[in-house]
Amino acid sequence: MSTIILAIESSCDDTSAAVLRDGQILSNCIANQEAHSIYGGVVPEVASRAHQQNIIPVVDLALKRAGVQKEELSAIAFTRGPGLMGSLLVGVSFAKAFALSLDLPMIEVNHMQAHVLAHFAEDPKPEFPFLCLTVSGGHTQIIVVRDYLEMELIGTTIDDAAGEAFDKTGKMLGLDYPAGPIIDKLAQTGQSVFKFAKPKVAGLNFSFSGLKTSILYFLKKQVKENPEFIQENLADICASTQSTIVAILMEKIEQAATQENIKRIAIAGGVSANSGLRKALQTLGEQQGWQTFIPRLEYCTDNAAMIAVTAYHKFQRAEFVGQEITPLARYKID
Ligand code: KG4
Ligand code: ZN
Repeated sequence: MSTIILAIESSCDDTSAAVLRDGQILSNCIANQEAHSIYGGVVPEVASRAHQQNIIPVVDLALKRAGVQKEELSAIAFTRGPGLMGSLLVGVSFAKAFALSLDLPMIEVNHMQAHVLAHFAEDPKPEFPFLCLTVSGGHTQIIVVRDYLEMELIGTTIDDAAGEAFDKTGKMLGLDYPAGPIIDKLAQTGQSVFKFAKPKVAGLNFSFSGLKTSILYFLKKQVKENPEFIQENLADICASTQSTIVAILMEKIEQAATQENIKRIAIAGGVSANSGLRKALQTLGEQQGWQTFIPRLEYCTDNAAMIAVTAYHKFQRAEFVGQEITPLARYKID
């Protein structure tokens, strides 16, 4: 008999539902929330309300696209955390009600583990062990992945996440939220001519708040001399910001690969959609003789396919949870 899993993701500002059959993704539907763009960041209250509106249509669409009836499902999976409490509550409560009404087992999933396991939603799949650099709006992590559900965090940010560095710089430049993809696009027509200091952080940890301050002071100084500086140099500022962030990430992943003696290197999370980062990993990988794993764009940013893949491995181990389960705004990967 087939194992068919419906998975729900609602940790931040994207509502997503996916259907998986025996390890294969049949559908992966995502409702993005445009409402946050003018605020310069995700407004938790607005996000929860939008999840509430989107969740039923997104689930209906995912089942329809998969050609699966509710009655055929083997289990329902959901993101338990980490994330915004109000957003998580919508997904968790929906999953509980759905499970109760159809008498289905429930599987809880750690969102950060799921970003890593997004690599198993497509081919080629990495062999274990591999290193994963997970870079998103809330996290910057280097993880040793020993098995599907066996991960060790060996590096993390001590302040802002890489995605935040993109988004906060974008805010200074007057760009909408999330600024990461906009900076990426603008950078492609610019040159990395401005130099920003890279932080000095020991070991495999990251820091991005100093970079943000250094860009802020640079912009203030330049705008004082020429009020049109940002408009006149937007593409170059974006290219310079992006190349600095990418260089910081590459330096640490190279250090981690040497330290762990692992030559299979993956990237994951929203920032792994960045064209500069994708190119840099490919180039460095060729130089170092690494096997690199770069996810398809739809599996970089938040999506329920990655929740479904993670849940599939938990299903095989019969790792189910009961109705007493609650969301966790903070939830360690290891
Ligand atoms: O993984 P994700 O969708 O949500 C979180 O779990 O945080 O990541 C969102 C982050 C945002 O900071 C967004 O600006 C960034 O990923 N992002 C990008 C790109 N696409 C998304 N950053 C740089 N370049 C991109 N192309
Ligand atoms: Zn995420």
